[in-house]
Amino acid sequence: MGLKAHRPLLKLLKDDSEGTAPRRRVAARLLGQLEGAKFVVDALVLALQKDADAKTRKNAAASLGRLGVAPQILVELLKDEEIGWVRAAIILALGRQGQEEALEPLRAHEAQTPEEAQALERAIERLEPHQSRVSWQPDRTWPGPVLLEVPVGLEDVALDEARKAQCVASRLGKRRPGLLKLGAKAAPSAVWPGLRCVYRMRLMLTDGPGLLATDPQAPAAVVAWMGTQSGLKELHAWLDAPEGVALKYRFDVRGKGIRRKTRAAWLEAVRTALAPLGLKDSPSSYDFELVLEPGAKLSRAWIVPSFAGDERFAYRHRDVGASIHPVVGAALARLVFTGPQAEVRDPTCGSATLLIERAMLGAGALSGSDVSPTAVAASQTNIAASGQRITIHRGDAAEPSSWAMCDEVLANLPFGLRTARRDVTLTRLYNRLSTHLGHNLRAKGRALLYTTARGALDDALGRNSRLTIQERRVVEAGGLEVGLWLVGRSGRRA
Ligand SMILES: C[S@@+](CC[C@H](N)C(=O)[O-])C[C@H]1O[C@@H](n2cnc3c(N)ncnc32)[C@H](O)[C@@H]1O
Repeated sequence: MGLKAHRPLLKLLKDDSEGTAPRRRVAARLLGQLEGAKFVVDALVLALQKDADAKTRKNAAASLGRLGVAPQILVELLKDEEIGWVRAAIILALGRQGQEEALEPLRAHEAQTPEEAQALERAIERLEPHQSRVSWQPDRTWPGPVLLEVPVGLEDVALDEARKAQCVASRLGKRRPGLLKLGAKAAPSAVWPGLRCVYRMRLMLTDGPGLLATDPQAPAAVVAWMGTQSGLKELHAWLDAPEGVALKYRFDVRGKGIRRKTRAAWLEAVRTALAPLGLKDSPSSYDFELVLEPGAKLSRAWIVPSFAGDERFAYRHRDVGASIHPVVGAALARLVFTGPQAEVRDPTCGSATLLIERAMLGAGALSGSDVSPTAVAASQTNIAASGQRITIHRGDAAEPSSWAMCDEVLANLPFGLRTARRDVTLTRLYNRLSTHLGHNLRAKGRALLYTTARGALDDALGRNSRLTIQERRVVEAGGLEVGLWLVGRSGRRA
């Protein structure tokens, strides 16, 4: 019911007549799932302070953690709370909000129950800025295969980038899209930070036994498998990690339909297997992720190092709705590239990700426009952070004033049913855009257009005899299938 649910739930929460505690508990929990209007937060604070029922107080604390409340309020209520497990919920709520003011009071708090102590450890871990004490040992090669996760549908572009960076890499095969494999002698530390068309790097462990969620023996098999992984056993030596410092990991299970209970059992098995190796489960602050992909016949597992951070896209201070993932952006910039002196334009630039990624490859001049003032401001902030020279102005891509002659057009088009101008439907915008493109793209120029509204763009491009579609492909991004067109002027082949 969304916002309409506030009123009846608040009424339930405030009703303290006899026998209503179970309903207050549910109301306190559900209110945390709605948007946090101030009156809701106030009612939950009151419940946490005054409700005679401890479970209602616990649920109110959890909801406040989700909705957000000044940390001082929770710190005060923590001091007054008598029940250990309610205090644990307040502590977790403080950790969840991620506000550093909560750190000192939490460090000073003395836990009186094991549950509270555990909550305290988790909350502090979450709030403390994670300073990994781990670093790469230069030039060390990984004992197993090293894979690169790349956008599905753009593997060729990522492969080309890797090869230009002197990495020996190959595609993993049609049955495993979105993955490249590095050559045997590759040192992960030398490869990873340089490649922009790569999401993440996987350091593979030895394949394991088939694991079925329904098999009660599966956790024991996980313990046996993980405990014998030479990659994990030697991780301390393999990385540059100080003696005696536990390496922290976050565990993840890949695969559909695996129930929470199964995941929890496997996590417990992993904890048991890895504790003797000096590896510690720490889901909110970690040096690497450990991913398990169970299969009926064979299971896979890998680690994704994260201790070194990822500064590649640090220019992204601001976002707009439907921003493109910068890894996809980096690949699109390479696909449209016609030369280092090209004049490049993005008529629906959003937060300017595409232009910034294209600028990094070298261009004569770059410019962008967007109909939304918020997008214009976001792009200006990001461009300043990137240190690139790109001109941005506000403008409607349907209007000729938003266009100028150029060698490349690179655009992630709006794909909602209606565009920012209410009277212009998507079809009309695409038709006009196609017309302007036909007039403004230079004879040897190239445009890359990217949208989920595939039919509308096909129609618009098909109607324009000045343009020719050189290539059309489908890219997977954020769970969506997005169409990509490479377009040139008619009369010339790609
Ligand atoms: C899919 S987003 C582009 C996101 C961008 N590539 C990024 O990574 O931030 C589409 C953008 O088109 C803009 N837009 C919608 N209608 C427009 C129009 N008629 N003219 C120009 N821009 C428009 C929206 O404001 C939005 O920022």
